[in-house]
Amino acid sequence: MDEQQSREMAAQLRQPKGDEGIKTGEWMSDGNKTIILDTLSTLNAETNDRILEIGMGNGHFVSEIVSIDPSISYSGCDFSELMVEESRKNNQEWIANQQAEFVHTNGISLPFDEHTFTKLFTVNTIYFWEDQWLVLAEFKRVLKTEGLLVIGLRPKRLMENIPFTRFGFNLFSKEDVADLLTENGFEVLSVAENTEPAFELNGKQIIMENLVITAKKAV
Ligand SMILES: C[S@@+](CC[C@H](N)C(=O)[O-])C[C@H]1O[C@@H](n2cnc3c(N)ncnc32)[C@H](O)[C@@H]1O
Repeated sequence: MDEQQSREMAAQLRQPKGDEGIKTGEWMSDGNKTIILDTLSTLNAETNDRILEIGMGNGHFVSEIVSIDPSISYSGCDFSELMVEESRKNNQEWIANQQAEFVHTNGISLPFDEHTFTKLFTVNTIYFWEDQWLVLAEFKRVLKTEGLLVIGLRPKRLMENIPFTRFGFNLFSKEDVADLLTENGFEVLSVAENTEPAFELNGKQIIMENLVITAKKAV
């Protein structure tokens, strides 16, 4: 992959657009299956949960949440209009029975009242938060007092070996995420380091790992 291709790939991962964006959405739901399922396992959706996801891509895994129980509701926000459209196409059944909705947001303000959600999660978006304190302030605002925040990401030591992350990705170690959360009014509850099947990129096998971090609002 040359520099131009790496730049284009990074831009698509940050905010999928156009025909290439549809393929990027599919590539992400395929390649990120393990980190997403690890995050969902930690999220542990249960009866009456009201769940918010930030940056759901094409929404391929929403059924894993809402099929658990009809009392669970899911809202997905993404600042890619294309990913909101794709998510709506992929989840018509859950939209029709009013368990799922997909909202186009600007990436900063969330169109929900305070104390709305029991759980909020996000996978592979932390790299793109421009104003981290504003993002976390919004998360705190919309989460209920005892609400759970779950963040899935790939650690810095792995991401820095992937060429496209040089273009617009902020990379985090587990300590960096814990510090960021603590400095912004969250109490870290757990940090899990998970190994994933190896992944092939440009003919090279990359050992994959993910971090899943949980936190709640500090009192
Ligand atoms: C790398 S993709 C990850 C998609 C999916 N969560 C996954 O892990 O496969 C990042 C997604 O989050 C969206 N996104 C990134 N930053 C965002 C923000 N601040 N607010 C809303 N959506 C955001 C992008 O448009 C894109 O759909």
